[in-house]
Amino acid sequence: MITLGVETSCDETAVAVVQDGCHVLANVVLDQADVHGPYGGVVPELASRRHSERLPQAVTRALREAAIDWSAVDRVAATYGPGLASSLLVGLSLAKGLALRLGKPLVAINHLQAHMYSPFLTAGVLPVTAAAPFLALVISGGHTCLVRWESVGRYRLLGETLDDAAGEAFDKGAKLLGLGYPGGPEIDRLARERDRAFMTFPQGQVRNSRFLPEGLDPRLCFSFSGVKTALRYQLQAVPMTSEHPRFRDVIASYQEAIVDAVVTRCALALGDLPRLVVGGGVSLNSRLRERLRELATRLGIDLLLAEPAYCGDNAAMIAGLAAAGGGITGPAAYALDATPSLSVCSG
Ligand code: KG4
Ligand code: ZN
Repeated sequence: MITLGVETSCDETAVAVVQDGCHVLANVVLDQADVHGPYGGVVPELASRRHSERLPQAVTRALREAAIDWSAVDRVAATYGPGLASSLLVGLSLAKGLALRLGKPLVAINHLQAHMYSPFLTAGVLPVTAAAPFLALVISGGHTCLVRWESVGRYRLLGETLDDAAGEAFDKGAKLLGLGYPGGPEIDRLARERDRAFMTFPQGQVRNSRFLPEGLDPRLCFSFSGVKTALRYQLQAVPMTSEHPRFRDVIASYQEAIVDAVVTRCALALGDLPRLVVGGGVSLNSRLRERLRELATRLGIDLLLAEPAYCGDNAAMIAGLAAAGGGITGPAAYALDATPSLSVCSG
């Protein structure tokens, strides 16, 4: 079975061809860093225009790389939320048109569930049905959440961020430090081999459950706005540029606080689950990957990290989850509108 996947929820124009849920035949991702970089963040209007300009060429390239033609496509999958409304609409509308024209099923996919599926895109890894139940961590520029994955279509949210996502903590911190956008990769690079214990930053413990959505455990929720504010105060007290001998130690300490907050909550959320599955752009962070590996060894659990090519936004994860039976299909999929604030367990 061949699935064509389309992903345009934010600023990556992505199309992929996946066979049987785990063999990625093509994974085209056209980023828009040149468009948004000068603004220090994604500009929705510009993102959707870029998607409509470049999505057709991404589709053509994906079919060519997979060495298939239209007749080989068995289903078309696309992200319908969460994300930027105008960006989502471009990919979803294209997928509706393609599925109708080809006379093949359309599958509408929740972007966050697809991030949780991304570690299963590696040939040789357990199929998702055999791996469940497991704890899934989605850690990206827009989201940070812990989910108990029971089976495809049955998920329970355990904890999430109450303010900034982990990726935002990296990006906003990088901005304060005078680094470029997106800041995560730059912080990761500058923090290497530096003194992580140089400074202590808050890890945003959530103590009061009164303000939480029902059913969430405060100990498994995140708050990253405090760590960023602490960095701002620190830089106001002791202004620093990249010339300062301790500049990279401050960065390493800042990164460690974010990573520590994530790893501690994963350890707590695992309970008796035997497996931790991690996806999303921030899971590219080398220190986070190292700390998660240490945690897995210490607890004797199985750790599935997405391959670097599938950590950030991509369409292979969209096609993969559709092939595994996820998402909404049939007439209901055609009736769906782009859903910017779709919650992680819906759909
Ligand atoms: O999953 P993603 O590509 O897009 C969203 O759905 O948000 O994640 C993008 C986020 C950005 O905040 C970026 O700074 C962060 O992932 N990121 C990293 C690293 N690479 C990307 N954060 C920390 N360390 C990295 N190496
Ligand atoms: Zn994403």
